[in-house]
Amino acid sequence: MKTYTCVLLSLIITFVASAQNLPSQKMTVFIDSLMGKMTLEEKIGQLNLVTPGSDIPTGSVVSKGVEDKIRNGNVGGMFGVIGVDKIRNAQTLAIKDSRLHIPLIFGSDVIHGYKTTFPIPLALSCSWDMKLIEASSRAAAIESSADGLSWVFSPMVDIARDPRWGRVAEGAGEDPYLGSLVAKAMIKGYQNNNHFDNTAVLACVKHFALYGAAESGREYNTTDMSAVRMYNEYLPPYKAAVDAGSASVMSSFNDINGLPATGNHWLLTDLLRKQWGFKGFVVSDYTAVNEMTAHGMGNLQTVSTLALKAGMDMDMVGEGYLTTLSKSLKEGKVTLKDIDLACHRILEAKYKLGLFANPYKYLDADRASKEVLSPNKKALAKTLAEHSCVLLKNAQQTLPLQQTGTIALIGPLANDKMNMLGTWSVSGNYKFAIPVLEGLKNNVGNSVKIVYAKGANISDDSGFIKKANVFAEEITTDRKPPEVLLQEAVQAAQQADVIVAVVGESANMSGESSSRSDIGLPECQQKMIEALAHLGKPLVLVVMCGRPLTIEKEVSEASAVLVTWHAGQEAGNAIADVLFGKYNPSGKLSITFPKNVGQVPIYYNHKNTGRPYIPNESSKFKSDYLDVSNEPLFPFGFGLSYTNFNYSKPTLSKTEIKSNEKLTIKVTVTNTGNYDGEETVQLYTRQMMGSITRPVKELKDFQKVFIKKGDSKEVAFTLSTEDLQFYNNNLKRVFEPGNYKIFIGTNSNDVTESDCVFLQ
Ligand code: NOJ
Repeated sequence: MKTYTCVLLSLIITFVASAQNLPSQKMTVFIDSLMGKMTLEEKIGQLNLVTPGSDIPTGSVVSKGVEDKIRNGNVGGMFGVIGVDKIRNAQTLAIKDSRLHIPLIFGSDVIHGYKTTFPIPLALSCSWDMKLIEASSRAAAIESSADGLSWVFSPMVDIARDPRWGRVAEGAGEDPYLGSLVAKAMIKGYQNNNHFDNTAVLACVKHFALYGAAESGREYNTTDMSAVRMYNEYLPPYKAAVDAGSASVMSSFNDINGLPATGNHWLLTDLLRKQWGFKGFVVSDYTAVNEMTAHGMGNLQTVSTLALKAGMDMDMVGEGYLTTLSKSLKEGKVTLKDIDLACHRILEAKYKLGLFANPYKYLDADRASKEVLSPNKKALAKTLAEHSCVLLKNAQQTLPLQQTGTIALIGPLANDKMNMLGTWSVSGNYKFAIPVLEGLKNNVGNSVKIVYAKGANISDDSGFIKKANVFAEEITTDRKPPEVLLQEAVQAAQQADVIVAVVGESANMSGESSSRSDIGLPECQQKMIEALAHLGKPLVLVVMCGRPLTIEKEVSEASAVLVTWHAGQEAGNAIADVLFGKYNPSGKLSITFPKNVGQVPIYYNHKNTGRPYIPNESSKFKSDYLDVSNEPLFPFGFGLSYTNFNYSKPTLSKTEIKSNEKLTIKVTVTNTGNYDGEETVQLYTRQMMGSITRPVKELKDFQKVFIKKGDSKEVAFTLSTEDLQFYNNNLKRVFEPGNYKIFIGTNSNDVTESDCVFLQ
């Protein structure tokens, strides 16, 4: 009986396994047979990604003669082509006019929403709400796929600890654990949990790798890093995206320890494919193959060879592959196997999308008219914006605002549509954006008198404005001289009960190629805030930005400070809801705010050093500064609510934990204030002694809970030895027994600590 059951079981297992293998076998047979018919040129053509340049290019070249190239089978995919009609035209060229009728894939930078524009990714990560983040990428996938796209260049998961780098705006901040959860949630949303119906698109995790660690926060700059730091601190989010099934990976512009990422065999093959088991295809960043020449890696033929050999499958825009690979093959510098492998991977992606079965799968004008800018996406944009705001200060409960009296709404961003969407909203239309003035009026109608004055330009520095405004005039200069603007603002403020000043960065002051060495507010805005503060009235600062700003002085001058980031098209409505208390802010910083640029790079999970800094102690020979404390302006995880949350002392299920046991940590959080609200309870650990130096704190888990005023909630976390693992000096993932500290709190700084021992 026993033998019979075993045989039956093994038969069932074999059957299930072969049934699961069937689709992939079928795919391989199909692609092998197609590739059998392809010429060398057609195979190389599949590795070519072009953009006709009708939209914003991010390099100095755009593709030429695209239509002929499609007909000749010299193109594998396109990006920057927007809308069902244009995409249908291009797809029809490939299907009807190219010899083998191979469909194209159509990509785009869908970074924070598609046409419906959501808050910038850094803002979204401050929600610490993975369901909402997944909903944002799901909605973006539904909308962009309805408009003909099958591939999005997102998520950007580069860990960033240096806010001088403008692209911190595009990522999820500084923490590997939070960043990994965000990466996973976004992949799930884009790829519809890897169920490739016509609402799912291929995700592309970028920029692989370590782009966020560019020296001095300067764009495209060098990264040089120990392997241990890479594995523990920078690589986890990329790996999480690969584990979640990301169909593609984009290589980064930077070099890594002396070798550009785009030609880095260790990175693109040994790590990505062999260690992590990545099965999709790798695309270069914009002309990144060609740029290896400027990196000093050789001429176009040499760098194209280097990239292909490294495992880089698709060449974005530069056409190094298209123009040199057949020569390199003749000269024996690459093999046909190298080219076949890359071609196979790209055809597999098309197959998985279902484009061979139906090349027009994503081209349904009815779907587009229903899904693009639909009311439910607009509603989601508002919800996301509300959840992304971080309340940094609220003295004397200045916020929420009363719905009576007079509000002076002041500031260069108070009535500005252009800058609401934020960086990388290539398909968004600023005309749909709601500025704060409109949002306040929508919210309270005539019950509040609103007097508006611009007060200042975003910047008065003409050299800076010229550089920032290359693509669009996002920083405008008012016809009125600065003194007049300021005078008008003071006059408006004098009539009011409360002043709301909307200040910050224009959209183009952050994002790609927008590094800043001074991350303060522009001088004219600082002056405006100073003048308003002198009036002695309650002053609320609404700060729109794409990065942490050094605003210590402005924070001290204001009664309340709300960071909204660039909040997307529903900015004004969402901000009004938050200001009037219709939504109680719940965002927590996913990135540290420094006091000054000299503290940068600054991050909560730093090492202790041998001479650790002691707060409030002035002694010599410590790891500190003479002119500023080590504390940030606002730490990672920080964010207030209109209500107060009181934490009980955490209890540990035991203080000695055996290796097969789990530790449970419980804390009761009580809402002691006057509003219902959400709190993100955070759990950090510290390994007190290790085989290598370990961070002073590491985020291990968090829970966002809604608690009604007066109510309490018990929040329980479990920790196992697996959660305490890290990469040791041999790059082995290990758990090391010993003493640990467990921290529970409302942010990375305000925590209660407990001790415990994890045994072998
Ligand atoms: C350059 C950027 O680095 C990348 O993020 C983007 O996806 C490509 N350009 C394509 O626009």
